[in-house]
Amino acid sequence: MKASIALTPGDGIGPEVVQEARLVLEEVGRRHGHHFSFTEHLLGGCAIDARGTALPDETLAACRAADAVLLGAVGGPKWDDPTAKVRPEQGLLGLRKALQLYANLRPVRPLPALSHISPLKPERIKGVDFLVVRELTGGLYFGARGRRPSEDGEQAFDTMIYSTGEIRRVVRLAFQLARGRRKLVTSIDKANVLETSRLWRQVAIETAKEFPDVKLEHQLVDSAAMRLVTHAAQFDVLVTENMFGDILTDEAAVLAGSLGLLPSASLGAGPRGLYEPIHGSAPDIAGQGIANPVGTILSAAMLLRHSLCLEKEAAGVEAAVNRALQEGKHTADLGAKSPLTTSQMGATIRERLLAGPR
Ligand code: IPM
Ligand code: MG
Repeated sequence: MKASIALTPGDGIGPEVVQEARLVLEEVGRRHGHHFSFTEHLLGGCAIDARGTALPDETLAACRAADAVLLGAVGGPKWDDPTAKVRPEQGLLGLRKALQLYANLRPVRPLPALSHISPLKPERIKGVDFLVVRELTGGLYFGARGRRPSEDGEQAFDTMIYSTGEIRRVVRLAFQLARGRRKLVTSIDKANVLETSRLWRQVAIETAKEFPDVKLEHQLVDSAAMRLVTHAAQFDVLVTENMFGDILTDEAAVLAGSLGLLPSASLGAGPRGLYEPIHGSAPDIAGQGIANPVGTILSAAMLLRHSLCLEKEAAGVEAAVNRALQEGKHTADLGAKSPLTTSQMGATIRERLLAGPR
């Protein structure tokens, strides 16, 4: 097949990890007779420097025209001034919103071979295999915000708004995905306090009627945060609003052992999606060639699966990553004695890919 992929490497370690994922995709193309074409575009801090905006028009147009977008990371201390009008994150948030990518899929399946690198006891990680479906274009991230004078000086506000339609479409997707898994959806909210959460719960219960074969349970976000590090193996599909999902997925990364390992897919109504590792731009290690490319390479696997419908190819990439990790091929974040560099890790995964499934 033919597919066009827009790359937005972004800032910090973004370009280093995206490069490795691109090489993996090229290898997949060669091996399976697909033609993937790549274009590269500015997003985030580098776009602010070059164009004065975090999401230049040409970047948005290219992402709209592509079959899929592969993103590195945005942000860094250079653009961290809290009073700045333009911020790198606006590029990412603007892209998610403009492409209407309302669902962010973040699978967490720690490899047994890596259980020693997690700070959690191995028995807490055993059997963990869940998928977080995070709402991505609503809630506090996109509600009205501002500052105004107050009696004691100044006050600031952010607003959380959710409509039934916004809740239903993401909850429905969670149920559909649960059908292909262990058929359990945990809807996470704060319904004991927030009105948006009470509506969320109500819509989740209504939507569940369309899926009688899938079990629905509700959990408050604070206790879900605890259960993630005590009994995470009980989870199958978690579905939650934007901000809760942001926080819970960083926490969930601890189960896998490193933020550098986890991929994500952001999807909307059509096949086009945005794929990115869940880690940030890691400015402290940028430019040293030591970042872990696995999260981005696994995001490329999700791209093959969800945007290009190439399931076999996606599974092949995941198997190659697992084999490399199981053989002890690790980057520095995984605590290896003689760690591989970013490009060595990428090359190792490509070699496993060439060898094919065992
Ligand atoms: C993520 C990130 C982003 C978010 C930031 C960079 C805006 O933390 O993708 O999880 O909060 O969504
Ligand atoms: Mg986050």
